[in-house]
Amino acid sequence: MNLVVVGCGYVGLANALGFAKLGHRVACVDVDAGKVAKLDVGKMPFFEPGMPELLRQMQEAGRVVFTGDLGSVIGTAEAALVCVGTPPGEDGAPDLSQLFAATDEVARHLSHQLLLMVKSTVPCGTAAALRERFDAAGKGDLVRLASVPEFLREGRALADFFRPDRVVVGSDDGEVRAQVDSLHAGIEAPRFFMGHESAELAKYAANAFLATKISFINEIADLCERVGADVRDVEDVLGSDPRIGAAFLQPGLGYGGSCFPKDVGALHRLAGASGHDFRLLGAVIEVNNRQRERFVQKVVRALGGVKGRRLAAWGLAFKGGTGDVRQSAALDVIRALYAQGAEIVAYDPQAIPAAAEALPDGVIMAPTAVDACDGAEALLVLTDWPEFQEVSFDVVRDRLVEPRVFDGRNILDAAALRKRGFQYYGTGFGA
Ligand code: UGA
Repeated sequence: MNLVVVGCGYVGLANALGFAKLGHRVACVDVDAGKVAKLDVGKMPFFEPGMPELLRQMQEAGRVVFTGDLGSVIGTAEAALVCVGTPPGEDGAPDLSQLFAATDEVARHLSHQLLLMVKSTVPCGTAAALRERFDAAGKGDLVRLASVPEFLREGRALADFFRPDRVVVGSDDGEVRAQVDSLHAGIEAPRFFMGHESAELAKYAANAFLATKISFINEIADLCERVGADVRDVEDVLGSDPRIGAAFLQPGLGYGGSCFPKDVGALHRLAGASGHDFRLLGAVIEVNNRQRERFVQKVVRALGGVKGRRLAAWGLAFKGGTGDVRQSAALDVIRALYAQGAEIVAYDPQAIPAAAEALPDGVIMAPTAVDACDGAEALLVLTDWPEFQEVSFDVVRDRLVEPRVFDGRNILDAAALRKRGFQYYGTGFGA
């Protein structure tokens, strides 16, 4: 099939390269000329494992091209995937301006039948709104709409593309459902066919439920600290019950990134706008915001204040495996401690360039994890990069002024560190 993918972010590129690998010819469109120029010469605009290699392969095979001009590629497309951002608008509701700009542009150029799939996370009623816009443009007969929400994670985008847990297809039209299904031939995953509204809502519900698990375990962790329990033991018991599942029960600084905060907030707001007070989500958001403050307070309390104190920060990205710092808890913690007068030396395997732009100039970036520790009175672990577990803590101890670790992600071995003479502060260890 000839495909057009609109939007070259994580979702757009994973789909473009993934479908190209499955044998389709893909034209990728983005309004960011700099990004298009970079991709055109085989350079990734962000860090994502496996993508540079697949990009090169697909470009060499001539199966993927990049352009800023939608009109030049839509004429030969059989299907289009819209993968643009839907960030929170000023009122917190999803801002659909990028989506509408893209689809209006499609409508303007359309003179043949096109399957148009919405991958962007959009509120219920968006497909209906798109249908009206295409009708108003006189192109309603040409376009077949499907709501095909995306569930891939940053850091594992390609793995999730090729092996998703499910493919959700929102459309009431049997032919559209069959077309989307056949486009996904080669992807072994259960298909769920439903109406547009259900598909739109299912995406928000999935993210909101995962966020709820995280806030739940963070509440349990707080309780553990108060009653002398160990959250890891509680996690093990919860996780062994298949009705609960072990995933997303990692306490710490709470969830960040470009999706959970935005989508939980949007669902909370959309529910309110439709007359339903979704109280649970209000609490999920509140607990999540509190986690960062709690961690900062823990550090300040243990050190007896941070003014003029040097602290090493490991991790800037919103989670391990990505260079993305959007809504990163690590950055919020660093900002709060810096505002209280701490001297911060930070390290991250991928996120330093993005973080340096977002943080005050006074925050120092170190070339390695160990270098960040030089002369610091404590080490703060703020992102769950697996490589942080591989660092030699004998070396870390020698570089620190005080062997003290605040593990905001519970990724280090507390017992081993204590044996090496470290004071270890995790999340949810009361004993
Ligand atoms: C999330 C969803 O997992 C994807 O299914 C979805 O497609 C995507 O949003 C999206 O809507 O586009 P992502 O934002 O890449 O993916 O990140 P996750 O791996 O879900 O992690 C989200 C946040 O939760 C991170 O800050 C992570 O550190 C935190 N987290 C995760 C915890 O605090 N505890 C956990 O146990 C798991």
